[in-house]
Amino acid sequence: MKILVIGGGGREHAICWKLSQSPKAEKIYCAPGNAGIREVAECVPIQPMEFEKLADFAEEKKIDLTVVGMDDPLIGGIVDVFEARGLRVFGPRKNAAILEGSKAFSKDLMRKYGIPTAQYETFTDPGKAAEYVKTCRIPVVLKASGPALGKGVLICMTREEAEEGIRTLMVDKKFGDSGDTVVVEEFMTGREVSVLSFVDGKTVRIMSSAQDHKRAKDGDQGLNTGGMGNFSPSPFYTREVDDFCEKNIYQKTVDAMAAEGRPFVGVIFFGLMLTDEGPKVLEYNCRFGDPEAQVVLPRMENDLVDVFEACIDGRLEEIDLKFRKQACVTVVLASDGYPVKYEKGVPIQGFEKFRGKSDYLCFHAGTKLDEQGRIVTNGGRVLDITALGRDLKEARRKAYEATEWISFRNKYMRHDIAKSIEDIDFSF
Ligand code: AMP
Ligand code: GLY
Repeated sequence: MKILVIGGGGREHAICWKLSQSPKAEKIYCAPGNAGIREVAECVPIQPMEFEKLADFAEEKKIDLTVVGMDDPLIGGIVDVFEARGLRVFGPRKNAAILEGSKAFSKDLMRKYGIPTAQYETFTDPGKAAEYVKTCRIPVVLKASGPALGKGVLICMTREEAEEGIRTLMVDKKFGDSGDTVVVEEFMTGREVSVLSFVDGKTVRIMSSAQDHKRAKDGDQGLNTGGMGNFSPSPFYTREVDDFCEKNIYQKTVDAMAAEGRPFVGVIFFGLMLTDEGPKVLEYNCRFGDPEAQVVLPRMENDLVDVFEACIDGRLEEIDLKFRKQACVTVVLASDGYPVKYEKGVPIQGFEKFRGKSDYLCFHAGTKLDEQGRIVTNGGRVLDITALGRDLKEARRKAYEATEWISFRNKYMRHDIAKSIEDIDFSF
């Protein structure tokens, strides 16, 4: 069958790579793709928000299955456009992608259906929000309700900071309309875990757990980023935690969406915090995480085409997900200065070292071919260096070993991805 994947980052590289291993995938296209995705798919120069052009392409090429990797087109309703034209597509419709698109919606959903999450209030009036934060316990968390590239969350350590945060989001509109509604939330402490799941509208199947490293610098310092590294599984995601979440979070969320007339088909990413009072939902995303996909998909044994098809057809119940008893670690190679200001167009060397080594993967995030046919940097996050190992320690050692194979000017990485957990003993 012919498959079209929409997106062009490390997550889409991992999805295309995994799909390319399916005997059912005869031909894979990726729009727009990147210099690494080229090796497993034909890249198509159409942007992810050009819904009609993408649907024209899918019709013209007789695409059997389109997979949407990114949040923006999903939140914007790409699935509805494809379905209206009779095209088969994996991902939530607009009315379900709101689970990520509006934090006010997702918080109200959790409150209504008794899904554990931080206490909160929602505001559309900056004056009322400012009054309210005067009464809140500090630290307090402010969240722009709409999408803000993962940067619309402010953790305020003082009341003054909180009042200034309200101004930044609601008056100065740093994130545009996304800050029209603001969620003011209780600050929680605990370990964070990312849990990705497949959903077919009624059944939910959990993938293996992962953990992100969101801050730019070692020791969780510096600015928030899209993610500087990841590992899977998380040793903190124990059987006990899993049982609790199965009972109180995963199925409840899927049932709640169905009950609201918004059946969710696609990937739900549960961002969890393991607090002293038990696991609570920090956020939902309506797609694979980036770079969570890069550590979870290499461990998955199932044929990804089968899983996508089962979701679309409402047959997920028939699928038993299986994960290798190996750990996986991804270290992001970024351009120095990310996430603020960084150089693009810098030639990258060393890819040949990955050839023929099945435990080592080099997923491309921000790369492209220049006019001379060289692979050059084309984004803040450039490459996702990934390795599998017997345990987290071995996977970590191998991933860092492979970061040395690649060179480009101003290469930057964190040195402590998966460091704090490498000696924890756990069984798969
Ligand atoms: P979100 O986009 O909602 O996941 O928030 C981004 C990051 O902010 C999370 O990964 C947490 O590290 C942090 N965060 C969000 N909400 C809270 C909260 N209520 N308490 C503590 N930290 C939070
Ligand atoms: N790595 C976090 C995200 O994809 O949102």
